[in-house]
Amino acid sequence: MKDLSNYRKSYEKSELLEATIPEDPINLFHKWFYEAEEFGGIEEVNAMTVATHGLDGFPKSRVVLLKKFSEEGFIFYTNYNSEKGKAMAINPNVCLSFFWHSMERQVIIKGRAEKTPTLLSDNYFDSRPDGSKLGAIVSPQSDVIPSREYLDQQLKILEQAFEGKAIPRPSHWGGYLVRPLEVEFWQGRANRLHDRIRYHLEEDYSWTIDRLSP
Ligand SMILES: Cc1cc2nc3c(=O)[nH]c(=O)nc-3n(C[C@H](O)[C@H](O)[C@H](O)COP(=O)(O)O)c2cc1C
Repeated sequence: MKDLSNYRKSYEKSELLEATIPEDPINLFHKWFYEAEEFGGIEEVNAMTVATHGLDGFPKSRVVLLKKFSEEGFIFYTNYNSEKGKAMAINPNVCLSFFWHSMERQVIIKGRAEKTPTLLSDNYFDSRPDGSKLGAIVSPQSDVIPSREYLDQQLKILEQAFEGKAIPRPSHWGGYLVRPLEVEFWQGRANRLHDRIRYHLEEDYSWTIDRLSP
């Protein structure tokens, strides 16, 4: 057995104080996102986990790539028939999270997922390389398949079928917009007394800001 009890790190890079934060969590997310990018040391700043309530009663989280964020929310693309797609069709409540280790920061977003308008999904699909487009068509994401060879063969068949032709977005693939209801910002601090600031969306669409105990 590997003992990890000595794996310990003191977090001392920054602080998160009420006096310096905006009223709106998207502004703070924007600031942190670009600081993480500029600081470096993170290969995919836009990688995030999406946790869903599974149809089997279990929560499940997996990494996807954030492709857009704005006041409206956070957009990622996937297969609508995948395990997460089926889960969100029944229960759209999801949790997104980011861990930007070089900044000693974590962001946790609770929100509701909805499919993006088809035009937005079409535009994003069209911007992808042909290989990724065919990959989206060929992969029955999350289904059991007979073998790796099966996938490669299916791809070859599609490559021939679409040679020289435009590749349309399959209807089973597209975006989700997660509209945030709660956004928590976590800044690592010394002695495990981290800063945690939570924004909660009220009925009048204003944000309540609270400090949580670490
Ligand atoms: C760095 C990284 C980025 C990923 N990006 C995506 C993505 O944007 N969309 C997606 O559907 N899957 C993405 N995946 C794969 C998912 O983690 C997952 O395996 C897949 O979506 C199937 O999940 P599900 O069976 O729980 O629905 C990514 C995986 C990694 C490690």
